[in-house]
Amino acid sequence: MTVADSQRVAIVTGASRGIGRATAKRLAQDFSAVAIVARSAEGLESLTKELAAQGKKALPVPMDLKQPTAAAEVVTTTLSAFGRIDALVNIAGAVKQADLFEMTDDDWADGLALKFHGARRLTLVAWSELMRTKGTVVFTSGTAAITPKPALVAIGTINAAISAMAKAFSERGLTDGVRVNSVMPGPVLTDRRRVMLEKYAASKNLPISNAMEIYAKETGIARYGQPEDIAEFLAFLVSPAAEWITGSSFRIDGGEIKSV
Ligand SMILES: NC(=O)c1ccc[n+]([C@@H]2O[C@H](COP(=O)([O-])OP(=O)(O)OC[C@H]3O[C@@H](n4cnc5c(N)ncnc54)[C@H](OP(=O)(O)O)[C@@H]3O)[C@@H](O)[C@H]2O)c1
Repeated sequence: MTVADSQRVAIVTGASRGIGRATAKRLAQDFSAVAIVARSAEGLESLTKELAAQGKKALPVPMDLKQPTAAAEVVTTTLSAFGRIDALVNIAGAVKQADLFEMTDDDWADGLALKFHGARRLTLVAWSELMRTKGTVVFTSGTAAITPKPALVAIGTINAAISAMAKAFSERGLTDGVRVNSVMPGPVLTDRRRVMLEKYAASKNLPISNAMEIYAKETGIARYGQPEDIAEFLAFLVSPAAEWITGSSFRIDGGEIKSV
């Protein structure tokens, strides 16, 4: 099936703030409509209004993606509203930032419930529609997948699992006509990253601004990422211009990872 770029429909999860919000805003420029998913109805409504003021269409789908029934509701609601899905961008995530020896069984289950199983279920449920539209999926992992640290053990481990799952979906996508990739952001200034940096500042007994500077130096980046840095790349990755790109994992990290 061929369809004008301007008629395509995307689903973006984690769209109430941070990287997901910036991505939904960016994709709304290229797609005819974007279904936006997160728990906060308020956050989604404000984005919908912001986009409507620019003549862009968003459909707020307030949903807790940890719930097993949420994926089917997101897909059904999007199809009822727009009749098609061309891109699914899985960004929602809230894995606990805690040490290897502090993480409880419940913490692990909770981290997996959203970022891993939420994205997995949504991809499974959307798959037949993505086959029909020759669509594409992106999973959001993170550089911690390749630099696991005891202080952030669940983040690294779950991100690594997501990268592996994305690869498995991409293999199936070769025969099913669905492109699947994953992205690994480095340190991007969002609410989530600010909490991480505040903890870091407290551990060093430093004011946040000094701590941010030191953390950037330790991490080896020239500057922190902004959500828009990731959104711009994602817009390319789900566009027809990326037609031959599948099964890949992209670091978008401002030079954080010091290997080829
Ligand atoms: N920021 C970074 O430096 C960085 C680096 C590497 C990877 N990442 C990854 O990038 C993704 C986005 O990160 P971010 O920094 O933008 O995080 P963020 O600012 O905390 O945003 C997280 C998003 O996920 C949504 N969410 C949380 N729990 C949810 C649930 N149960 N159901 C549905 N949606 C839920 C949140 O909305 P509600 O609270 O309204 O539900 C929000 O829209 C995450 O997967 C994160 O692991 C971020």
